[in-house]
Amino acid sequence: MRIIRKIYKFPIPAFATRLIDNPIRRRLLQKPELIAERMQLKPGMTVVEIGPGKGSYTKAVAEKVQPNGKVFAIDIQESIINRLKKKIKKESIQNIIPKIDDAYNLSFEDESVDRIFAITCLPEIPDPIRILMEFKRILKPDGIISLSELFLDPDYPLRRTEKRWAKEAGLDFYEGFGNWFVYQLNFIKKKPSY
Ligand SMILES: C[S@@+](CC[C@H](N)C(=O)[O-])C[C@H]1O[C@@H](n2cnc3c(N)ncnc32)[C@H](O)[C@@H]1O
Repeated sequence: MRIIRKIYKFPIPAFATRLIDNPIRRRLLQKPELIAERMQLKPGMTVVEIGPGKGSYTKAVAEKVQPNGKVFAIDIQESIINRLKKKIKKESIQNIIPKIDDAYNLSFEDESVDRIFAITCLPEIPDPIRILMEFKRILKPDGIISLSELFLDPDYPLRRTEKRWAKEAGLDFYEGFGNWFVYQLNFIKKKPSY
């Protein structure tokens, strides 16, 4: 994957997301079910995912917000969104909404989203702090932003780097899972006062 990054500076091409999202990763490293479980999802929630890739994580989250919940799967690349549209049509998934949008300037109202997540995605984007500030804008006061990273990703950041980005964006660290090789960090707007 690091070789791909040498050739394609930004963004990662759609074909490479097929390589990233392979069965070994889904069964052993970043299990979609487990990642979804750690987001404290509830039926009816509105969720935004940035960089859905093949949609494995989108699907796991979409199942947990049923009934009445939905997942907006956002990407700047039309090819990624078109591929996801085909997948959800083939699998008759009703509550995933693929959408071309820019994470720097999301077309969502202030404080309108319950959860925002990104899997091996944020570090690829050149200004992650600005992206986190945009996440903060659209997140409800009691919402959660969940970021998961894997060492094999060419843009992998250390946990402390991602925590620093979040702090600079005005977010509080809430909880973390995993280890240096594969981790998931949850952030909130403000720590609960209890
Ligand atoms: C590394 S891929 C995501 C991989 C996927 N989450 C997975 O785990 O298989 C990063 C994605 O972020 C998208 N992206 C980059 N900058 C973006 C932006 N400003 N707004 C929305 N999507 C963006 C890219 O087009 C790319 O599809």
